[in-house]
Amino acid sequence: MNRFVEIVNLEKTYYGHGFFKRSKNAVKAVDRVSFGIEKKSVYGLVGESGCGKTSLVRSVLYLDPPTDGEVWVDNTLLGGLKATELRSFRRRMQIVFQDPNSALNPKMNIQDSLEEGLFNRGLDNSRRKELVTRMLDLVGISPSHSTRYPHEFSGGQKQRIVIARALCMEPDFLVLDEPVSNLDVSIQAQIINLLQDLKSELGLTYLFISHDLNLVAYLSDQIAVMYKGRLVETGSTDEIMGHPMHPYTLKLFSSIPGMQTTPAADDFTAPEAAASGGDKKPLEGANVCSYCDPCPMAGQECRGQEPQLETIDGSHKVACLKLANHN
Ligand SMILES: Nc1ncnc2c1ncn2[C@@H]1O[C@H](COP(=O)(O)OP(=O)(O)OP(=O)(O)O)[C@@H](O)[C@H]1O
Ligand code: SF4
Ligand SMILES: [Mg+2]
Repeated sequence: MNRFVEIVNLEKTYYGHGFFKRSKNAVKAVDRVSFGIEKKSVYGLVGESGCGKTSLVRSVLYLDPPTDGEVWVDNTLLGGLKATELRSFRRRMQIVFQDPNSALNPKMNIQDSLEEGLFNRGLDNSRRKELVTRMLDLVGISPSHSTRYPHEFSGGQKQRIVIARALCMEPDFLVLDEPVSNLDVSIQAQIINLLQDLKSELGLTYLFISHDLNLVAYLSDQIAVMYKGRLVETGSTDEIMGHPMHPYTLKLFSSIPGMQTTPAADDFTAPEAAASGGDKKPLEGANVCSYCDPCPMAGQECRGQEPQLETIDGSHKVACLKLANHN
């Protein structure tokens, strides 16, 4: 494994409880997902609400272990670690969630919140204080405010504090799960710029999650587009933004102001959409393309087999039977 993070065929299925356990109501939130992240790069994962982004990252970090597949971080197979080894390895992998309000304990002041995780690392008092001061300073919160409580800060400041708490663990891999979606638009840019600065300053590797393709493109070196638990298109940011191909990526693209059409979109959709038409409902129980229902280009061949990610050019891969046939 030569990339810093390597995800291989990851699956996460939620089963019901009690009588319904393992029933047909099971939800496969992540379905055979594979990708790799180069050290000190940003990998962006984009997809609509409910497509499985949070399930994927919780599985990647073993906060909720995957049902199947492998996660390698710095040549360590996380599934092969004992519970105590995993706990200690997890220091290197931190996550920042969407909502800073639920991430901070309202009854603890900032100093105590940030020091909490450091006790387990066995750091002495002066080292703990030094780390908290340094990280608060790095994220733009005055260390002199560390005796204040969460309600005394704005939403953007709270998210800075949550980021500082993650950084106190001195991670090398940071997962950012929609870190700005709960913030005002004016504050979002500040936090994104902060994340960029921190990455350069500390040499971090990011997995950045968002439903906003524009935001993902701004921050990421590589992008994966997720739909219903599957990756449907992956590539460098230039490849995805310069030549988006999968019909679902084109749909995400069309929601970005000023990007309603692209040459790639026009070339791809016009003749096929006219030819397909008809019934777009997938066959019961058959292997089908997961994007069959909304796809304007779905044809009969899309209802008889499931497309796999196939290389189009360079690192650009697309899971679409029609695109694969045309290359
Ligand atoms: N603990 C759980 N038990 C059962 N089903 C779950 C659980 N967590 C998530 N799901 C289901 O898995 C699917 C993916 O959910 P997930 O939260 O991973 O999506 P998401 O892309 O992060 O969405 P959002 O953008 O809204 O955060 C959804 O159908 C969701 O209902
Ligand atoms: S395989 Fe068929 S249904 Fe799926 S995205 Fe491609 S054209 Fe659309
Ligand atoms: Mg989520």
